[in-house]
Amino acid sequence: MKIVFKKKLKIGIVGCGAIGTSLAMIAQKRFRARVDVAAICDRDQARALRLHKRLPSARVLSLDRLIASCDLVIEAASAASSFDIAKKALQKKRDVLLMSVGGVLGKEKKLFRIARENNKNIYFPSGAICGLDGVKALALAGIDEIILRTYKPPEALRGADYIVKKGIDVDDIRTEKLVFQGDARAATKAFPQNINVVALLSLAARGQVVPLVQIFVSPRLKRNVHVIEVKSRAARVEIRCENVPSEDNPKTSKLAILSALTTLDGICDVVRIGS
Ligand SMILES: NC(=O)c1ccc[n+]([C@@H]2O[C@H](COP(=O)([O-])OP(=O)(O)OC[C@H]3O[C@@H](n4cnc5c(N)ncnc54)[C@H](O)[C@@H]3O)[C@@H](O)[C@H]2O)c1
Repeated sequence: MKIVFKKKLKIGIVGCGAIGTSLAMIAQKRFRARVDVAAICDRDQARALRLHKRLPSARVLSLDRLIASCDLVIEAASAASSFDIAKKALQKKRDVLLMSVGGVLGKEKKLFRIARENNKNIYFPSGAICGLDGVKALALAGIDEIILRTYKPPEALRGADYIVKKGIDVDDIRTEKLVFQGDARAATKAFPQNINVVALLSLAARGQVVPLVQIFVSPRLKRNVHVIEVKSRAARVEIRCENVPSEDNPKTSKLAILSALTTLDGICDVVRIGS
């Protein structure tokens, strides 16, 4: 029996860095029957051309032409540009998959309205964390509290603006130490690299609570660890992720790339596993 998949999905990738490049290469190899990486773009033309050399079938286009030539626009660029890229693509009646979720936080209602008006989809992969299915489900019963505890090795925070301003010497820390506690807004200001995780949790919780963020320096660690605690009358959930950084960008975890690929897989297949 011949297996029939949905129509081949034409994708355009905005941002040819760690995520965009890996996504393009793996999608073209693993999902070739269902996905065509038709177009790429980057504000740094050299990066787009570097990817084009590895994947000649992907055309290097301007953002407007990329949007015009694809069914799905994948943003893997920056928080500063994600809202505008998504808005433009939705208004041109294209679906969008967003990685720089932090750039949308606070403006999500506007973006969701544009998507609904144009009958198009916005996809937010789980990125560097797991368990958003549980957070979304618990939001139906009501969430009382979300705490995001991020544990970092000293080298991950050495020289970070917040740490320097507070006069903390990370190399002097011998046992695990809490160096920051605050709400999502204060946390993303102090530690911008946490912005996507905080934004994803806020969106999954449908804005019912503002996540509390705690940052620890842990001298025994070699990798960043996120522990997420969700309290609700329906369940108490704890999620722990020990992330391995990608080779191309140590600030981006391999899990974030794989999560984007899984979302893509889900979009173009007929089977969905998990909520
Ligand atoms: N959702 C998550 O959990 C998660 C996890 C990791 C990274 N991210 C986000 O995904 C984005 C990409 O991450 P990365 O590791 O690939 O970054 P990267 O720095 O390796 O690559 C980003 C690329 O986008 C390009 N770019 C920036 N602004 C652009 C614009 N307006 N138009 C076109 N190109 C533009 C840059 O030149 C660069 O080549 C970042 O915003 C990052 O914060 C999200």
